[in-house]
Amino acid sequence: MEEIQYIDWNNSIQILKKAYEANLFVLIIGPKGTGKTSLVRDFAKSMNIELESINFSLRTRESHLIGTKTLTDGTVNFDEGLLVKSMKKGDMLYLDEINSAEADVLLRLDEALDDRRQIVLKESTGEVIKAKEKWFVIATINPLTHTGTKELPPQILSRFPVRIRLEYPPEEMELEIIKKHVSGEHDSEIIQAIKLANTLRQAAAVEELFYSPSLRETIAFGKLLDKDMSPKEAAKYVFGNVYTQWGDIEYQKVNDIITSMFGN
Ligand SMILES: Nc1ncnc2c1ncn2[C@@H]1O[C@H](COP(=O)(O)OP(=O)(O)O)[C@@H](O)[C@H]1O
Ligand SMILES: [Mg+2]
Repeated sequence: MEEIQYIDWNNSIQILKKAYEANLFVLIIGPKGTGKTSLVRDFAKSMNIELESINFSLRTRESHLIGTKTLTDGTVNFDEGLLVKSMKKGDMLYLDEINSAEADVLLRLDEALDDRRQIVLKESTGEVIKAKEKWFVIATINPLTHTGTKELPPQILSRFPVRIRLEYPPEEMELEIIKKHVSGEHDSEIIQAIKLANTLRQAAAVEELFYSPSLRETIAFGKLLDKDMSPKEAAKYVFGNVYTQWGDIEYQKVNDIITSMFGN
């Protein structure tokens, strides 16, 4: 995928830089599609630090972090997991959606993240892995309003003493971000789509709707216009149809909003 330059509209890069220099781990909190992953990638690139990423889900096992024993030609080897690798290398570790991790996985992470920054390889030789001094960890979580999200235990939260909040950007900033991804010949239609997205976001925030569109959607809208789709149609495919998942009434509510903003 092409690398898109991150627009640092709320000065997050500078905060990350200070945290990095002070060796303080960072937690980024924000709804999906607000640029969390792009921010971290861009930061790692600008600092020229190698980045290892783990995307957490209920299926993430300790072995992903720590490693697994393998048997080749009669000899037992240990295939290091990403956590162990990044500690040894002293590079940057990105723990995406860390609040999706199961308790046993979090326990193992906690071991590595506490002030000693070390982990005992009880799965293998019992060796103690100590992180290099420059080792840096950034984690993200979605706010609890998102369905299926669990809260992160306070003990883990305390390992990340610097917290960045990412929200949906102001309208004119969202336009600027979208224009990084699209041709830039449909400003007024894209502004209309941002207004629609913000209406839906506000409705979702007060639980009038079940879904909140992100920057991924407003960018997708712009890309479809680049392919000569009409704004009304693009709005239907990108913003409207998804609400069918929650039934006809939910869908009609949104459809009425789309018609009022983009015509029949
Ligand atoms: N500030 C920004 N500058 C450039 N692109 C952005 C910005 N914020 C979001 N995007 C774009 O929006 C989309 C979603 O961003 P992403 O980083 O995947 O969000 P998250 O990790 O919070 O879900 C990506 O295509 C990303 O490039
Ligand atoms: Mg992400």
